[in-house]
Amino acid sequence: MKLMEVKDYKEMSEKAAKIIIEQIKKKPNSVLGLATGETVLGTYAALADDHRRNGTSYERVHTFNLDEYLGLGPDHPNSYHYYMNRHLFSHIDIPVSQTYIPNGLADDAEAECKRYENLIDEVGGIDLQLLGIGRNGHIGFNEPGTPFSTVTHVVELAPSTRQANARFFPTLEDVPSKAITMGIATIMKSGHIILLASGKTKAPIMAQLFEKDVTPLIPASVLKTHPNVTIIADQEALSLV
Ligand code: GLP
Repeated sequence: MKLMEVKDYKEMSEKAAKIIIEQIKKKPNSVLGLATGETVLGTYAALADDHRRNGTSYERVHTFNLDEYLGLGPDHPNSYHYYMNRHLFSHIDIPVSQTYIPNGLADDAEAECKRYENLIDEVGGIDLQLLGIGRNGHIGFNEPGTPFSTVTHVVELAPSTRQANARFFPTLEDVPSKAITMGIATIMKSGHIILLASGKTKAPIMAQLFEKDVTPLIPASVLKTHPNVTIIADQEALSLV
């Protein structure tokens, strides 16, 4: 894992956006794996800004999001579909038909997981995957204990994850209890992975990530076995390392 220590959230976001833009310039039909949450908002804002100023084009790019809550549709303001449209897709020139997010309203969630995994393989796999990290070390919604062999699957969210994400919902009860997420094996198939971490709330898990061996109890620790991972973390996130 290559570590880029940066000053703050702004610098982390700019560095991440720069890597993504370079990837698209190098390969205009890149397949990007995208994350949601607070950490990546600045990166998306920087990509939108670059598109506006410099015209970097996403016309040939395909994107696959890591996860989606079960039970929330694209029009629900707390769905990851809604988040992606609001924070990235509506600001760049990517055709909607090339943006993939698991369908949280699928009648058959298991079939949706298979369809999603197959779609990723059909486009030739993910070139560059952007990741945040949960406070308990989750990546996507792969909670501690998830076997490293899992592909896209339905998950029961850990109480601590629902609690952490409750800040985006009216009440804790409104946070869905299940989600569809790319599996750890799905994420590990990506050519290059960027993990972002910012702020004091991520300091304890970042310390564990560097100190502990590879273990399913810290899902992000699997990244140590991937040949091409870049961690971009700010001083607060690294304050306990
Ligand atoms: C969420 C998402 C992850 C995200 C992580 C961190 O639950 N499923 O994809 O990376 O938790 O979120 P945040 O960036 O808001 O801290």
